[in-house]
Amino acid sequence: VTIPWDPVSAEKGGYKHFMLKEIHEQPQVFEDTLAGRVNLLEGQVYFEELQEFPIDFERVVIVACGTACHAGMLGRIFLEKFARIPTEVDYASEFRYRDPLVDSKTLVLSISQSGETADTLAAVSLAREKGCRVVSVCNVLGSSLTRISDWVLYTRAGVEISVASTKAFLCQMAVLLLFAIYLGQHRGCLGKEETRRLLEELVTLPRLIRDILEREEDICKLAKKFYLFRNFLYLGRGVLFPLALEGALKLKEISYIHAEGLSAGEMKHGPIALVEPDLATFVLVGQDVVRSKIIGNMEEIKARQGKIIALCCFGDQEVAEQADEVIYIPRVTECLLPFLAIVPMQLFAYYVALEKGCDIDQPRNLAKSVTVE
Ligand code: G6P
Repeated sequence: VTIPWDPVSAEKGGYKHFMLKEIHEQPQVFEDTLAGRVNLLEGQVYFEELQEFPIDFERVVIVACGTACHAGMLGRIFLEKFARIPTEVDYASEFRYRDPLVDSKTLVLSISQSGETADTLAAVSLAREKGCRVVSVCNVLGSSLTRISDWVLYTRAGVEISVASTKAFLCQMAVLLLFAIYLGQHRGCLGKEETRRLLEELVTLPRLIRDILEREEDICKLAKKFYLFRNFLYLGRGVLFPLALEGALKLKEISYIHAEGLSAGEMKHGPIALVEPDLATFVLVGQDVVRSKIIGNMEEIKARQGKIIALCCFGDQEVAEQADEVIYIPRVTECLLPFLAIVPMQLFAYYVALEKGCDIDQPRNLAKSVTVE
């Protein structure tokens, strides 16, 4: 008997593509990234990497590219909410050519899966020339970025092979949340009880992601209904706005469908003109103050016969009524929703691309790591 075997399929561990394998690895790598950094009893976050870390800087500037920049946009929200520190986010490619106003009172936070992205490296070098201290969130041990940073917070996503980043993004969000809590505690703006409640919920997320992955078949069916659409909008607000950008990026990267991520509040300032029966809109709905505004967006889209896929929390009947299709995720504290919302969006992009017969792990024109300009 001969058993057909080749090393590449063996590495895929039974999955058809690395991307799908990496999506499924997320509960595990999430747990790995939290390991040893979360103390539930004490209600504290630890980073052994942050030796002699100063907390006296005045602001944070986040620099990154692509998916890492979307994690950075969420990081900004976390830092402002939990550490009450003014934070900006910049594409590394913009920061490096803008003669940015940064100095020794600025902490530059760079984020990169590979640690080899040319624009991110150049942005960090410039920041150092201007006297900034640099902390980097990175997935690759000993990469160029880690060698030019003052501190490195490693994501523990393991090797990511698929060009479209999935598990690294999830781990970046996790590290950024922990970092914001860490700073919040050290700067005296986050109490132990609040931290403990947040951390207790955070550690349940890997299990909730496993539950979402078990409902993969539903997303596959949804993708079969939508793969012929040529234009998608992704709408979100608050912590779900960066997720709308990331959901749209995943779809365009691997399925080559035009997709735009937007803050839902901007719909009325132009994009609503695009709505027609051939436009699909992926709407991310949380439970905070802007929920009713997003439902308003959905009503407007529906009135113009646009198609709506809504991603919302279990039991949100009001949202379900406005949507053509609904994806439910568990109800968790608003700032933790991105960790759950990202998974169905990754699966949706994957199954749409699969339906279209695209080369999922090696999409046309893209490279895993862009080491030249
Ligand atoms: C490339 C990849 C993207 C990635 C970006 C930043 O464009 O295709 O998936 O988000 O680079 O990569 P980095 O390694 O710096 O996170």
